[in-house]
Amino acid sequence: MAKPNLLLIVPATWSELWTAKPDGCAVNFILHGRDAYAPEGIDYVLSFRPPAGLLKTFPNLKAAFSLGAGVDGFLCDLDYPRRVPLVRFADQTLSAEMAQFVVMHVLIRHRWQRLFDDAQGERKWRQMMLPRRTEDTRIAMLGLGEIGSFTAARLIELGFPVASWSRGRKTLPGLKSFAGDGELTAFLRQADILVCLLSLTRKTAGILNAKTFAAMPDGGFVVNVARGGHLIEGDLIAALDLGHLSGAVLDVFEQEPLPETSPLWRHPKITVTPHIAAISQPAIAMQYVLGGIAAFERGEKPDNIVDVETAY
Ligand code: NDP
Ligand code: OXD
Repeated sequence: MAKPNLLLIVPATWSELWTAKPDGCAVNFILHGRDAYAPEGIDYVLSFRPPAGLLKTFPNLKAAFSLGAGVDGFLCDLDYPRRVPLVRFADQTLSAEMAQFVVMHVLIRHRWQRLFDDAQGERKWRQMMLPRRTEDTRIAMLGLGEIGSFTAARLIELGFPVASWSRGRKTLPGLKSFAGDGELTAFLRQADILVCLLSLTRKTAGILNAKTFAAMPDGGFVVNVARGGHLIEGDLIAALDLGHLSGAVLDVFEQEPLPETSPLWRHPKITVTPHIAAISQPAIAMQYVLGGIAAFERGEKPDNIVDVETAY
């Protein structure tokens, strides 16, 4: 039987890592932009954000694999062929990396680390700061899916009061769960640090906006590690400049790479990182893709098929 063809649409800088085939691999790899191919020969696609309109030109496409946990890069394509199953990357390594990133920034904020960095720059022995009590930094997680729940558990272990907001109610030891639009404001009222780990859908786009920030306590802090489309950047800058919010960490942006002209780069209360909070490891992601292809070829369904109606 002929091997199925997998089209890889991956960043050029990392293509060598993605095209490294495991021994005995039962799939042909075709690298988009390098290899010639006939559209009707493509059985599977692996990408983060395929060019809009491309997938609908593959009449025999059996499934698409996202190389990230978020699938907005596929579903923002209005021509995404909805009959084609979309599988996302959900893996403990990704959750663990994200938890490290969020815990790191929560601790930097909670322990006033930026003030000590500044003091060191001035060679000042600034010991007068009383430690903030752990129970006084309330963490509010927007989204409690695979990554959010793993991250919340790590924060609870550290003793922080953690609440979550999601579509369905959650039960996690030590967690206060809010669910649905009717409970959003009550959730935000106790968000000293608001962490966004929602999927990006039509319903969640722009959720980090002026109204959301106004509902947060004075001095609130925002960490957006989900998608740039969740944030209205101008509203964040306004809330920071007014002094209502005290700071933000942004790893994801509406436009990536973040343009040099963006005011976010220079804002004194904003930390910018280049979408590195959790990076899919090619070798691990390839196991999930090849395992998924093997399942489809056997006529079975792999785990983590996305519901294209809810878009996550
Ligand atoms: P999941 O799909 O597992 O979880 C998504 C969460 O969002 C769920 O808790 C879901 O609620 C909630 N949600 C979706 N729509 C709504 C809504 N309308 N109202 C309330 N809650 C809603 O995603 P993951 O945890 O795997 O990943 C989260 C996101 O993190 C990804 O979508 C991606 O954008 C981002 N990401 C960013 C990375 C980075 O490097 N910066 C790396 C990896 C991921 P419910 O549970 O009730 O269904
Ligand atoms: C993802 C990402 O969704 O890296 O996995 O952003």
